Amino acid sequence: MDGVFSVFERVIDRSFMNSDKWSKYPEEVIPMWVADMDFDSPDCIKKALNQRVDEGVYGYTQTPNTLVKAIQSHLSSRYDWGVSAAHLVHLPGLVCALHLSVRIFSNEGDGVIVPGPVYYHLTKAPLTAKRQLISIDMQIQSGRWVPDMAQFEAACANPKSKMILLCNPHNPGGSVYTKAELLRIHALAQQYDLVVVSDEIHCDLILDEVPHVPFASLNQDAANRTITLMAPSKTFNTAGLGYAFAVIENPLLRQRFNQEKAGLIPSPNMLGMTAAIAAYENGQAWHQSLIRYLKNNRDFLASRIAKTPMKMAHLEATYLAWIDVSALSLEDPHAFFLAAGVGVSDGKDFGNPNYIRLNFGCPQSTLDQAMTRIEKALRQRGFI
Ligand SMILES: Cc1ncc(COP(=O)(O)O)c(C=O)c1O
Repeated sequence: MDGVFSVFERVIDRSFMNSDKWSKYPEEVIPMWVADMDFDSPDCIKKALNQRVDEGVYGYTQTPNTLVKAIQSHLSSRYDWGVSAAHLVHLPGLVCALHLSVRIFSNEGDGVIVPGPVYYHLTKAPLTAKRQLISIDMQIQSGRWVPDMAQFEAACANPKSKMILLCNPHNPGGSVYTKAELLRIHALAQQYDLVVVSDEIHCDLILDEVPHVPFASLNQDAANRTITLMAPSKTFNTAGLGYAFAVIENPLLRQRFNQEKAGLIPSPNMLGMTAAIAAYENGQAWHQSLIRYLKNNRDFLASRIAKTPMKMAHLEATYLAWIDVSALSLEDPHAFFLAAGVGVSDGKDFGNPNYIRLNFGCPQSTLDQAMTRIEKALRQRGFI
């Protein structure tokens, strides 16, 4: 490993930080579940936060123009996507925006189409709002997780369907939708007049040389029917700071969204906005190193998995490995890995109990330790 990696090699004690990730399991377990990395945020973020904290007054805070400009230039330089300031909606997080969008843009009993297994709030949002969840199976094609398009087409043609919830890049599974795949989905959304909520929170975590295409950037019709959800939080490890944003070009959709959120969803956290400005303005070098580090971790993990009966499709994006453990015929895979000393996410929370999701956003020494524990448990059971 070269010097640029040393910042990601540092093992940080989070045990006293009330971290969700590190509080869930007993101390001796290595937690590899929630999408939160064990890395320090970049210095530019720490400096900006320290400066703002030192100002000492933390009253109600407007969205700074510098934040709007930083987002615009980030979206334009990375995705060639020009977004007007007026189309941005600033939020304290994306989960609330997913749930709110379902409640605004569909009615009780309406169908909401969701390709899965997927991050559980995409399925929870329709279910808790008493919508009909229309699941589309993701399947491995040419080594990548993609939705079954025949099922997708039938779901869109269902007169009950009103919305599509997309997760791109997909969590878990790590596929990045190609432009051609998105255009096919868009053609269906247009034909059947469906609103699209595109959760693109993982878009800055692409490990391969494949482009991220924001769904709303496909064409004018896509822009008109899409609520795009993005945030710096996964990439720059600032989830506890509470800042995310939506891009809603269609004024009718945006007005309804803003109206319904008023009084229910608080303004974003002032420190979250401070961190977002620093991340987008000055975090590029750190971000590039992060991607190289994660890519290395992905390949390290894939090579270790390949020596076991477990399987993992190639992950184009994210630090969340979606691992098929069906060959182990375990009654409770999550409990097996926990007993081995590794706290993974249970695949059933995303829609498939024969899988686990393993977060490799950590120093490689931690990943190595976790894999050594897993291999020991597999050896004891005669699997390797
Ligand atoms: C696809 C996806 N959307 C949303 C979130 C959470 O967003 P937030 O923390 O902004 O509510 C996550 C977190 O893992 C996620 O993976």
